[in-house]
Amino acid sequence: MTAPLLLDIHNATIWRGTTCVFEKLDLQIAQHERVAILGPNGSGKTTLLKTINRELYPVAKRDSWVRILGRDHCNVWDLRKHIGIVSHDLHQRYRPATTALEVIVSGFHSSIGVHGILAGRVSESQIKSATKTLRELGIEALRDTPLKFMSTGQQRRCLLGRALVHQPDTLIFDEPTAGLDFAASFDYLDRIRRLARSGHNILLVTHHLNEIPPEVDRVIALKDGGVVADGPKDSILTNELLSSLYETEIRVARVDGFFLAYPGN
Ligand SMILES: Nc1ncnc2c1ncn2[C@@H]1O[C@H](COP(=O)(O)OP(=O)(O)OP(=O)(O)O)[C@@H](O)[C@H]1O
Ligand SMILES: [Mg+2]
Repeated sequence: MTAPLLLDIHNATIWRGTTCVFEKLDLQIAQHERVAILGPNGSGKTTLLKTINRELYPVAKRDSWVRILGRDHCNVWDLRKHIGIVSHDLHQRYRPATTALEVIVSGFHSSIGVHGILAGRVSESQIKSATKTLRELGIEALRDTPLKFMSTGQQRRCLLGRALVHQPDTLIFDEPTAGLDFAASFDYLDRIRRLARSGHNILLVTHHLNEIPPEVDRVIALKDGGVVADGPKDSILTNELLSSLYETEIRVARVDGFFLAYPGN
């Protein structure tokens, strides 16, 4: 039996509030693919990731589906065991008083922190795994420190811990390095590369070509309510295609398996 696709979208219409973001969207992503998603602001990158994580649903209609791991309507909590997500949006939803340990443990519950009723559901084994994750990320010393006393890089590392603590096979990154300095960005990049090499599904949204790991082999470009280009990295990251995608002159250089974009005029 062949493994189900990670994502199978057919003829989907997806709204975000009052905006119709995608119409007749078709997209397939197999398991163990490493994909970067590009597109101008507002092109629907975050909307697509939220659809995969079942935070958003397509309009129900005939001959249209969004299947994740082969299922139309799986239990969201089961699905989230397979997915770890790091996003700017998620980052902003955390209360400043949440500690590193609480952020990481919240990954087991797909929640924002472990306040109220959830606090009673945290098990010893979850704390043990979270402590191990803190150690692996080199932030054990921040275990009981509230987010408000951390740098953005340290906070983002906690979020990575949240995404990794339940050992998901799919990792979704929505601009994971936004606001991080070089050291923190490169550290993140290195961790994403290692996850890619160890066989994880990687879906990465970024505006920085140099942050697309060499391990990513497929690039999907979104614009105007759909996919405008999709293929091997080398065929998408070209001067012509990126200039047209972003409607500005862009040149692309390639260095050691990485790509760089700079103004083309
Ligand atoms: N909560 C919302 N209510 C209504 N419309 C929204 C909402 N969030 C986003 N949109 C709209 O949906 C469209 C797609 O937004 P989305 O956040 O997916 O874009 P994006 O590609 O992630 O952009 P960016 O690069 O700025 O992060 C945009 O037109 C945006 O204005
Ligand atoms: Mg976005």
